[in-house]
Amino acid sequence: MANKGRLSTEERLFGMEGRHVLIIGGGQGMGEATARLLARLGCNLTLLDLEQERAERVCQAVRAEGIKAWAIAADVTDEAQVVAAMERIEREFAPLDAMAAIVGMAGWSKLAEMTTETWDRDHNRNLRYFFIAARELARSLLARGAPGSIVAVSSVDGLRSAQNHGAYGAAKAGLVNLVRTMAAEWTPDGIRVNCVAPGAIVTPRIPLGPEEQERAAMALVPMQRRGSTEDIARAIAFFLSDLSPYVSGQTLAVDGGYLAKGGFSIGTPRVSSQGTLGVDDAKA
Ligand SMILES: NC(=O)c1ccc[n+]([C@@H]2O[C@H](COP(=O)([O-])OP(=O)(O)OC[C@H]3O[C@@H](n4cnc5c(N)ncnc54)[C@H](O)[C@@H]3O)[C@@H](O)[C@H]2O)c1
Repeated sequence: MANKGRLSTEERLFGMEGRHVLIIGGGQGMGEATARLLARLGCNLTLLDLEQERAERVCQAVRAEGIKAWAIAADVTDEAQVVAAMERIEREFAPLDAMAAIVGMAGWSKLAEMTTETWDRDHNRNLRYFFIAARELARSLLARGAPGSIVAVSSVDGLRSAQNHGAYGAAKAGLVNLVRTMAAEWTPDGIRVNCVAPGAIVTPRIPLGPEEQERAAMALVPMQRRGSTEDIARAIAFFLSDLSPYVSGQTLAVDGGYLAKGGFSIGTPRVSSQGTLGVDDAKA
């Protein structure tokens, strides 16, 4: 392997050296952070993205780690393009060992006003494409009798209500269930399938806002800040690597403690002698 001599003992612990990993949406943000981390761990990478130039740019950066990296353009909402890309990756580049599916996006609308087009679009670009890509990879791994690891990217919106973007929330919740079924059906053949559910993450698409606005938005997050794309990359690397050999069908929230805290940001509720509700510490 090109960079074997440069891997530290810790990096060798991941057992990723020489594995070929497909990152769907590898052209920026969480996909780029995942590519950079996996390259350091010695993986060869294919970066699939709607924007060829984005994937090419990240490929060029990660090749500095001495790994092989290929870029491929496809629209994941088009089944034919996904199937053709998966076939071409294995025929022209190398057989795949693993995949992280990062593409996803929300359409914003209240349910009563939501069109069926918005519903279908959010299911296509969050849930349906993951089923197709994971199915294609599983078919290949099963035919080769090879082990594998697959990671989906859901959201905390799939683990509680998702007001004003209900189609996205339902699709992300679908991923949580789908990885369980995939794990049940494929893990006996050595294919582990897991899911990462990000909380509020700073990305190129959703950059940091003014300090005051960020502080207010983070009131429900015990970590009191948004996460980074590297936080998500680390969780993905955990699931893809030999650090999680006995884990399959799981969803890990990477959310700064947001889901654990729950909905009250106003301190300890207190009922007065008149029966009205107050709080002991409005700043808590
Ligand atoms: N940012 C957050 O706070 C947050 C929170 C929860 C979950 N998530 C999830 O994290 C994931 C990444 O979000 P992001 O905002 O960093 O991603 P992003 O919008 O930056 O997109 C990542 C890459 O996917 C590519 N892409 C977009 N549509 C595509 C398509 N149809 N086919 C192929 N490639 C396509 C883009 O070109 C881009 O390079 C998504 O699944 C999102 O739902 C994000």
